[in-house]
Amino acid sequence: MARPKVQFVCQNCGTVHSRWAGKCDGCGEWNTIVEDDPAGGIGSGPGRPRTRGKPVALTSLSGDIEDAPRIKTGIAELDRATGGGFVRGSALLVGGDPGIGKSTLLMQAAAALARRSHSVVYVSGEEAVAQIRLRAQRLGTADTDVMLAAETNVEDILATVAQGNRPDLIIIDSIQTLWSDMAESAPGTVTQVRTGAQAMIRFAKKTGAAVVLVGHVTKEGQIAGPRVVEHMVDAVLYFEGDRGHHYRILRTVKNRFGPTDEIGVFEMSDRGLGEVANPSELFLGERNEKAPGASVFAGMEGTRPVLVEVQALVAPSPLGTPRRAVVGWDTARLSMVLAVLEAHCGVRLGQHDVYLNVAGGYRISEPAADLAVASALVSSLAGLALPADCVYFGEISLSGAVRPVAHTAQRLKEAEKLGFGRAVLPKGSADLPKSANGSWNTVDALADLVAGIAGSKAQLAQGEDE
Ligand code: TYD
Ligand code: MG
Repeated sequence: MARPKVQFVCQNCGTVHSRWAGKCDGCGEWNTIVEDDPAGGIGSGPGRPRTRGKPVALTSLSGDIEDAPRIKTGIAELDRATGGGFVRGSALLVGGDPGIGKSTLLMQAAAALARRSHSVVYVSGEEAVAQIRLRAQRLGTADTDVMLAAETNVEDILATVAQGNRPDLIIIDSIQTLWSDMAESAPGTVTQVRTGAQAMIRFAKKTGAAVVLVGHVTKEGQIAGPRVVEHMVDAVLYFEGDRGHHYRILRTVKNRFGPTDEIGVFEMSDRGLGEVANPSELFLGERNEKAPGASVFAGMEGTRPVLVEVQALVAPSPLGTPRRAVVGWDTARLSMVLAVLEAHCGVRLGQHDVYLNVAGGYRISEPAADLAVASALVSSLAGLALPADCVYFGEISLSGAVRPVAHTAQRLKEAEKLGFGRAVLPKGSADLPKSANGSWNTVDALADLVAGIAGSKAQLAQGEDE
């Protein structure tokens, strides 16, 4: 018989080691490595391997599905992020920094579902029942029949939800507080988090209830322990936001039943989270149209267009190695745009500090923002404000060419809707709409864009001279 495999797992970061060590290579912590049985955990079957398996009944793909597979909350932004509602029999992880509003969002979702006569159980391991009630009162959800429990023991939670009618949705807030009798380590450790999550996921698959697990993200930006739960659940949503701003973004990172590039946008107020149906208006709210160094990027988040302002500040550097600081965009991507500007457009930025900021604490992940960034940089260097009613998008290649990006029509439609009549976009863009009143300026090289901005500066100077 094969010797049972033993492995050692760091309780801080989840790195698996083949032998015990005092210090973890993964995170550098001391005394965090413990022996772990990879086959362990609740419901993982008997300890000794059976010699013969038991046949399971095979069924066909077609067949009756007892309920509607998805449970819609009616909160459009949340339903969009989950891909059309919570899926029965699935587990969903909602991650985010402490205090960002995960409990608030899920309490509102629970109440919305309860109002649609679904049975919802909310298990909190972090707050006492009185605290949850207080929050519910503030949110105006205290009149709904969400069932509450303040409990952290997995076996007790499972016993509770297994009695009576199976709930449609179970919310566990949070997985870091769960602990099981089956694992010996302390709550919050990788083994406990994994065991607890595994038990809840098993329950979801077995009974068809939807389970939502809340997970706090640690300082390093990963759920403790990193990735141990992400691969086990069916969908992962991250709730993000900037403490200095009121809006929050629910971002889909993984979804076995829907698209992964959707976002839901919310605004935190004293009455909880409100939906933001048009995020562009929010991100452009505080715009100063006459300032040099600002351009508006027509971006896409999944299926939905989002307009954001990109701000650049270029200033002569007193340092030998000029500073480059980026908030809301990729640093490597900025270096690339700077290099292309130097090499192909004659824009010298080697002796300049460059600061780049995406307004409102928003984060752009699309390469299509290249053109907006480049125009903000050139505008700041030239000390010349870009036209207030113009949007920019397009990918820049290392050769200095501007490449078409997807969803041209949607980006332009959103821009027109918000009063942007002009756009600078790549030449050869597919599905370019014929606009009645907009003017689209297509460029195929970055140098054209730079020449355009420089040209308008020369014109302006001439006008002043006259
Ligand atoms: P919470 O949902 O407890 O965060 P998490 O569960 O992610 O740790 O939200 C806490 C923050 O939200 C707290 O700083 C207060 C703020 N908040 C409001 O501004 N308005 C509200 O109506 C509620 C309930 C919370
Ligand atoms: Mg909370």
